[in-house]
Amino acid sequence: MAPLIFSGNSNKPLATSIAQDLNSTLSSAEIIRFADSECRVRIMEEVEGKDVFVIQSLSNPVDEHLMELLLMGDAIKRGEPRKMTAVIPYHGYARQDRIHRPGECLSAQLVAKMIETAGFDKLVTVELHNESIIGFFKIPVVHVSGLSIFQPHVKQIKGDVVVITPDAGALKRSQRFAEGLDLPLALIEKKRDLDQPHKIVHMRVVGDVKDKTAIIVDDVIVTGGTLVNASYLLKEKGAKQVIAVTTHADFVGGVDKILKDSPIDQIWVTDTIEIPEDKKFSKLSIYQIAPLIAESIKKLTKGYNA
Ligand code: R5P
Repeated sequence: MAPLIFSGNSNKPLATSIAQDLNSTLSSAEIIRFADSECRVRIMEEVEGKDVFVIQSLSNPVDEHLMELLLMGDAIKRGEPRKMTAVIPYHGYARQDRIHRPGECLSAQLVAKMIETAGFDKLVTVELHNESIIGFFKIPVVHVSGLSIFQPHVKQIKGDVVVITPDAGALKRSQRFAEGLDLPLALIEKKRDLDQPHKIVHMRVVGDVKDKTAIIVDDVIVTGGTLVNASYLLKEKGAKQVIAVTTHADFVGGVDKILKDSPIDQIWVTDTIEIPEDKKFSKLSIYQIAPLIAESIKKLTKGYNA
């Protein structure tokens, strides 16, 4: 039985490519906003007994996109599908994966509960900030590695290459990336000011980067602060070139210029988040995530029909 693919508004081009890779088209839904910004969703297809996938990245504006996903889930569930899967190419709120200071909320856990409450039976997501948030879900989670897309391109680089982990939190991800390519790893020690979002107060390189191509591996670019500060340090320590390899590009205003003017030589990202034309620049290469997600959907559908 062919699955139905619905999309929220966050990344329609990606959802369309995923549907195409599945030899399908997007199913029809109406998402409107009232004058006070409240969202209303209506599903325009018969979903009863069908396998349904809802594609929505929780990118900026995160709350709008989250709400659309939840309302779509509720609308579809009322039509009694056989299985309903949320496909979240970029999972927002994942950085709030623990309580950093007394009095904070555990947002990643609450968002997991909201997705389950909306009625989703399963989640497919890509390159979580921290894989341990899978433990916040009672439903099964399929976690796709976005970074695997970049590995063949790193293999083409001539000369010495070193993988850089931009902070301690990213260590496991960068380690896996370096091991997969049999490359050495260096670490950047990063300290943030927790009272000021995105503010970095200290950075230090641990490891040898001299005359090497330094590949900084991260999950997401938001303000570009992590990558740009790291690139200055790496060039100071003698790195020959710096390539930033990041699955998600959740660019805020002005980040394109900051990255363009930085010492970073190339920036590789995927299209889990739609990047508007006016935020693209020559150093930026965007790789397609649709084939990997379509593959996961095919496997799940096969399992449901076995
Ligand atoms: C932080 O822990 C994340 O892994 C990213 O390094 C961070 O969110 C990137 O944000 P920005 O581009 O604002 O430095």
